[in-house]
Amino acid sequence: MITAKTGEALAAAVGAAKAAGKKVGFVPTMGALHEGHLSLIAEAKKHADFIVVSIFVNPLQFGAGEDFEKYPRTIDADSALLQSAAADLLFLPTVNDVYQGNTEITQQAGHIGELFEGASRPGHFDGMLTVVARLFELVQPDIAVFGAKDAQQVFLVRQMAAKQFAKLRIIEAPTLREPSGLALSSRNRYLSQHEHAVATQLSAALRVGHATATSPSAALESARTVMHKVPEAKLDYIALVDANSFEAIQDGFKGRALMLIAAVVGTTRLIDNIEIVF
Ligand code: PAF
Repeated sequence: MITAKTGEALAAAVGAAKAAGKKVGFVPTMGALHEGHLSLIAEAKKHADFIVVSIFVNPLQFGAGEDFEKYPRTIDADSALLQSAAADLLFLPTVNDVYQGNTEITQQAGHIGELFEGASRPGHFDGMLTVVARLFELVQPDIAVFGAKDAQQVFLVRQMAAKQFAKLRIIEAPTLREPSGLALSSRNRYLSQHEHAVATQLSAALRVGHATATSPSAALESARTVMHKVPEAKLDYIALVDANSFEAIQDGFKGRALMLIAAVVGTTRLIDNIEIVF
């Protein structure tokens, strides 16, 4: 595996791969890698033959008081995992490599970016899209893979790519879960044993919502009932959105929806979702 620490080194390696006729797949990450990330790489390998993984903790997508400073940086373990997953290139840029001295927000997530995660984390999605656009420009991939757990992120990245990176295919890979149902996340490592048990109730609520989805309101009510039994998980929202528009749905909706959940357990913000077809 090549490790590229600058945009120039990245461009040279990707250029050589493309010249050899290879299709470039890209998995952007913030590191603290786990099995979920490896499943994104496995997905990328189905569609491309030179796989670039970036590790970059993007300051622009963290708000004041969020976990930018304490976000786990585990580069040696990450690098070993990427070797074992047979990634071709690890891109490990500095803030300056990515932003070239200009850390202004260049992407606007718009109305959908202000809902749900965006309502609780103002500016998060503008910062996320800004770095993803910069990384797409640097890596020049043919396909890019994002995890379904961050459903609003995938929706917004698709929207941006359709307008600005028309040739790039965005692929969504399914969420990987622990046997308890808890969605894998780099932030799970913040949880104490007790908080971990509490955190499993997010996916439990989604499963109950799914199992009782005779209507959107019935599904929401039963999912909320599960969460009300665990007040230690500070529920931010449970919502049902149209998977195609990310707008909230009402009773009578027919089609593919996503039930979204976000809660803070201890000091850790967790999100998850499940697909429900009405
Ligand atoms: O999902 C993440 O890890 C980040 O939001 C991403 C896509 C790597 C951008 O910083």
